Amino acid sequence: MICFGCWLEILPVAAAAAIVSVLLAYAYCTRHYGHWAALGVPHTKPTPLLGHFAGPTLGRESGTVTVDTLYRRFVGHRYFGVYQLRHPMLVLRDPVLVHSVLATEFASFHDRVMNRTSFEHDGLFNSLVNLRGDRWKAVRAKLSPTFTVAKLKAMFASLHVCTGQLVDKLLLLTSDGQGIINVSDISSKFTIDTIGRCAFGINCNTLFDSNTEYQRAGQAVFTPTLKSSVLNFMRLIDLGWLVDLLRLRNMPDLVYEFYSNLFQDTMELRKSEKEDRNDFISILIKLRNDEKKNNSQVELFAEDVLASNAFIFFAAGFETTASTMSYCLYELALNQDIQVELRKQIEHTLNENKGIITYDMIKDMKYLDMVLNETLRMHPPGPGLLRVCTKKFKIPDSDITLDIGMKVLIPTYSLHHDPVYYPNPEVFDPLRFTEDNKALRPNGTFLPFGDGPRICIGLRFALMEAKTGLAEIISKFEILPCNDTKIPIKLNPRSILLTPKEPICLLFKRIK
Ligand code: HEM
Repeated sequence: MICFGCWLEILPVAAAAAIVSVLLAYAYCTRHYGHWAALGVPHTKPTPLLGHFAGPTLGRESGTVTVDTLYRRFVGHRYFGVYQLRHPMLVLRDPVLVHSVLATEFASFHDRVMNRTSFEHDGLFNSLVNLRGDRWKAVRAKLSPTFTVAKLKAMFASLHVCTGQLVDKLLLLTSDGQGIINVSDISSKFTIDTIGRCAFGINCNTLFDSNTEYQRAGQAVFTPTLKSSVLNFMRLIDLGWLVDLLRLRNMPDLVYEFYSNLFQDTMELRKSEKEDRNDFISILIKLRNDEKKNNSQVELFAEDVLASNAFIFFAAGFETTASTMSYCLYELALNQDIQVELRKQIEHTLNENKGIITYDMIKDMKYLDMVLNETLRMHPPGPGLLRVCTKKFKIPDSDITLDIGMKVLIPTYSLHHDPVYYPNPEVFDPLRFTEDNKALRPNGTFLPFGDGPRICIGLRFALMEAKTGLAEIISKFEILPCNDTKIPIKLNPRSILLTPKEPICLLFKRIK
């Protein structure tokens, strides 16, 4: 037993050790906090350790709201600095600079994640979204033909099956002539069924099957868990090496199991089919076979790269498009005059085409395009774009040079709500997207799909799918707000996407 006298001797040493540890930890966490002051970049005081992201890290506030509050504070500046936990990150306000980073100076900003972030052990992360440099370039070039106009036209028949099922489901839910519809849920089921059928050739049937495995696995990708938050936190405080060493994976096990089975089963099924479906999965199969045939030195399409890209096409493809459709229905419910005008134009085009929606017809519906663009302006599913500086970059007309590894954030949501480019930004006004009005705005102010060589690969598919689904709905149902509609929409602080805290519910009344 330690005697009282010994305690008296140990106690000051222990206390001193504790104080030194706390001071060291504090110094470690705040080491870079002088970065922006030294460069003369405007910024606000960060919270020790959490930097400017205390709200989102603690699950109190959506990251979009945090960035938007700072964006408004720095009116008149071209950029401002923040700290993402320990690390400095530059947030751009100037559209000219935004366009340079995304497009014209792409060579200096071609990646989204830093070099030292390794996802090698986390199979599903080796997708286009995270791949870097030449590997990204090579994979992107091979996957780009997935959604050519010819392929989209060929997919239209499959899309028709899905829109037919969507209408059948809505008719069922409004069998008394009207019904309250959870549009967040219905849209995500519709987009799962569509990407499944059009790109993978599988029948997910989530609209009619009560098994919601597809939906759960998909939504889990965008909803951080305690584990993924801790792992991201570790990466941001430079303990990524430990994450790699312990081979810790970000997402819940159900996601890995689900997508790995989905990919294996789909590939297996294809082997037995004689006819080439010419879809995304057949592109993957061809890439793998070509590589084997050519005995390629560098294996670009290893099994994990194929599987992770199948995963990202599925996951990135459904929740974003579903969110666009449900926000659009929400805005149409609140803006009856716009809904009436849109229905008039859809009916007019339908009457001219014997009631059948075709690819070309969808392309020609100008007002629908404007309504959808205005929805994507007000509610961009991806509220921000990330780039990492890959080659030293001097910001024009400034003394600031960004070093390799510096993160740059483009605040899409805030640019879309900036009254300088969009007067009365909270008003839903599709006329902002007439050809004349679009031409008045500079590049870098409308970025729902990003821009430059890393722009969303699924853009054309997403627009075709959302427009066709919406045209079917608007021509058959009148959409109204109801007691279950939350106005205004509050954001889910835990989602990476611009997801409402509670599902969007609207009243649907049959027209015919
Ligand atoms: C309305 C629906 C969609 C929206 C709003 C959306 C938005 C975005 C955004 C903002 C980016 C980042 C672009 C950048 O960093 O410049 C992106 C990238 C990407 N999206 Fe989409 N997306 C949608 C639908 C889809 C669909 C349907 C697919 C696939 C089927 C898809 C697959 C991807 C992939 C693979 C990337 C990474 C591209 C790369 O780094 O090369 N997205 N998307």
